[in-house]
Amino acid sequence: MVLRFSKVCFRHAESLSVKVMSEKKSSPVKGPFCAAVRSNKRIGERFYRLGLEFTGAGATAFGRFRPGQFAEFDLSAVALPPREKIPEDLADVCQRNILLRRPFAFVDVSAEKNKTFAELLYSVVGPASLRMTTLAAGDSVNVMGPLGNGFWVPDGKKRAFLICGGMGAPPLQILAKVLTKDFPDIEVIAFAGAKTAKDLPFEGRLDEISQQLGFSLPEFAKYGVNSQLATDDGSAGFKGMVTDCFKQWFDKANPARERSVIYACGPEQMLAKVAEIAKEKNIDCQISMERRMACGIGICQSCAILCRANGSNETVYKLCCEDGPVFDSKEVVFN
Ligand SMILES: Cc1cc2nc3c(=O)[nH]c(=O)nc-3n(C[C@H](O)[C@H](O)[C@H](O)COP(=O)(O)OP(=O)(O)OC[C@H]3O[C@@H](n4cnc5c(N)ncnc54)[C@H](O)[C@@H]3O)c2cc1C
Ligand code: FES
Repeated sequence: MVLRFSKVCFRHAESLSVKVMSEKKSSPVKGPFCAAVRSNKRIGERFYRLGLEFTGAGATAFGRFRPGQFAEFDLSAVALPPREKIPEDLADVCQRNILLRRPFAFVDVSAEKNKTFAELLYSVVGPASLRMTTLAAGDSVNVMGPLGNGFWVPDGKKRAFLICGGMGAPPLQILAKVLTKDFPDIEVIAFAGAKTAKDLPFEGRLDEISQQLGFSLPEFAKYGVNSQLATDDGSAGFKGMVTDCFKQWFDKANPARERSVIYACGPEQMLAKVAEIAKEKNIDCQISMERRMACGIGICQSCAILCRANGSNETVYKLCCEDGPVFDSKEVVFN
């Protein structure tokens, strides 16, 4: 049996009943909803945390948000920041019109009475995310979702390893929250990596944290989850790739493989490596894939992912937005 996370998020909304989903299907209620902006805080050189509030049908739909799902944001009408606040490398591209919505995951979702609060962690990389920085409390933004399938919990698991690369952290942070709250029998351990300390989307001085504590990021520690930190240049935590950090840890701890599950999100190269490790060690593994998404709802076919058909050597294209973004790592064919 497979437990889907819809039951988990229902628990945050006291008015909603707990329900176990046994199929890998996307949320039945979705649509474009208007969200009110509550906050938009800069937490790093290029990282921001956006707080949103949904009411009415939007609150119901996003109250069922599952870790690993995402939402499509319409930022076409949002203003650019003043010229002096635009990073030099985005000065030209930011002038482009935003025709298409942009996909983002949520780092936290909670429900209270008739409202659902959602938080987004984003990095400024282009015209849409740059415009997002000008959103302020009291503004509204159109958000379509919840979209995609989300992570699931296979039966009998006792250990979950969360492996995040750079901006792959947000969906695994909410997953840490939900696993520790609703699956207390599962021990959760997180591994977060990036090129350098400043590329990690977390608050606070990571070099100091790693020096003082050896490991454990507050973002995971607040859910009682231990974490290991890795940077390619050694500016914080383990020096090297997060996949090497995980492998080293795993070989030393040697936990029961059949009772373990890996959840990973990050750059595709990292996901390919995670899939390879999972295969080598025979561990169940789910990876959250990224594609540029024009529609987010299975119409435009722009988000194709090459997959193996039913465990055979034959291949088929699946859609990242509808069949994913979370896939069993055995399914995906990496280049
Ligand atoms: C399911 C999903 C969840 C996501 N969650 C988050 C999140 O929580 N926080 C966050 O900051 N970003 C997230 N992203 C990425 C985000 O959608 C892009 O950064 C967004 O398109 C930026 O828009 P932009 O106009 O600012 O930049 P764009 O001009 O659209 O892109 C800037 C640069 O990023 C590259 N890029 C954009 N989107 C993708 C993609 N999907 N895959 C690979 N390269 C891409 C472009 O090629 C370009 O070089 C997510 C993407 C997906 C598919
Ligand atoms: S984004 Fe259009 S089909 Fe997936």
